[in-house]
Amino acid sequence: MEKLISNWSNIKSVPENYIFPLESRPGDLKIPTSNSIPIIDLNEAQKDDSDRANTIHQIIKAAQEFGFFQVINHGILENEMKETMSVFKEVFQMSDEYKQKLYLDDDLKTCKRFTSSLRYETENVHLWRDSLRHPAHPLEDWQHLWPENPTEYRECVGNFSVKIKELGSRIMDLISEGLGLKCGYFDNDLTGSLIISINHYPPCPEPSLTLGLSKHKDPYLITILMQDGVSGLQVLKDGKWITVEPLPHAFVINIGHLLEIISKGKLKSAEHRAVTNSSQTRTSAAFFIAPSDDCLIEPAQDLTHYENNQPILRSFKYKEFLKNFFDTLGDTDLILKSFEPPKN
Ligand code: OGA
Ligand code: NI
Repeated sequence: MEKLISNWSNIKSVPENYIFPLESRPGDLKIPTSNSIPIIDLNEAQKDDSDRANTIHQIIKAAQEFGFFQVINHGILENEMKETMSVFKEVFQMSDEYKQKLYLDDDLKTCKRFTSSLRYETENVHLWRDSLRHPAHPLEDWQHLWPENPTEYRECVGNFSVKIKELGSRIMDLISEGLGLKCGYFDNDLTGSLIISINHYPPCPEPSLTLGLSKHKDPYLITILMQDGVSGLQVLKDGKWITVEPLPHAFVINIGHLLEIISKGKLKSAEHRAVTNSSQTRTSAAFFIAPSDDCLIEPAQDLTHYENNQPILRSFKYKEFLKNFFDTLGDTDLILKSFEPPKN
């Protein structure tokens, strides 16, 4: 069978290898959209010192309580967001042949389109999504490897990703100040790369049986997510799933697993997933602020103590962590096990 879901036609039921075990199925699909996830106005941070301090306080509080928040007045124009989202959507409307060719190789660093996860061959259940993933920083190293079609892809996504990288740096500066770390703490190899991952979730005939993305923590510092107006993202908070409302002109920001480790658990990386729906296609674009491959990750020594239950891990290279994330299919417990310090 054709693997790419967006190339399937007229699918009436979910194939067996897409049906999740009972305990990880979405269950109740009518989870109310939560307005409890904080919405933070980034323009405030540019006013005076007290407004900046207040914004930082809101970010740290949201990162501790939810691991998620949304930002508005972030400086990226609504038109640019719409245009980029429509270019992303177009990729999945290209001909079946074109989409087949977009697959290059298995290297984690190159441009690739795939379906389900990067471990399609070994996973037990497939995910209801097609994806396109590629690095975007430094732009000149990668832009020529991106899709040639739609024709505006490289220019539009290139300009947009430069702005996203800047937004990411602004947010990381506010976070480092909020943590009490020295100015520019993250402004180095720790945020040396930007990865774009476009998720495309076609309508699913039986959304209660399958998932677009299963429960995971993002294995990066922070994620800047652009949603298209169709809801589907859910966050685990105190053992309950809550839906993140798609707000026009906002970005969803979430704390990645690496930032939880670096901040000694002061900031929380929340587990989240994507559910599907039977009537609408949903597209989201995740921009991951990530370290350079060989960057060494360890808890910030300037922070005095570990928060409750925060596991102590050995230091490791980012690329080792990322490989582990894909190999364990994002299983947080297994990932942590691999990075336990050696026992004496
Ligand atoms: C991700 C992710 C959520 C979504 O790409 O890591 O969690 O709404 N995406 O697509
Ligand atoms: Ni994620």
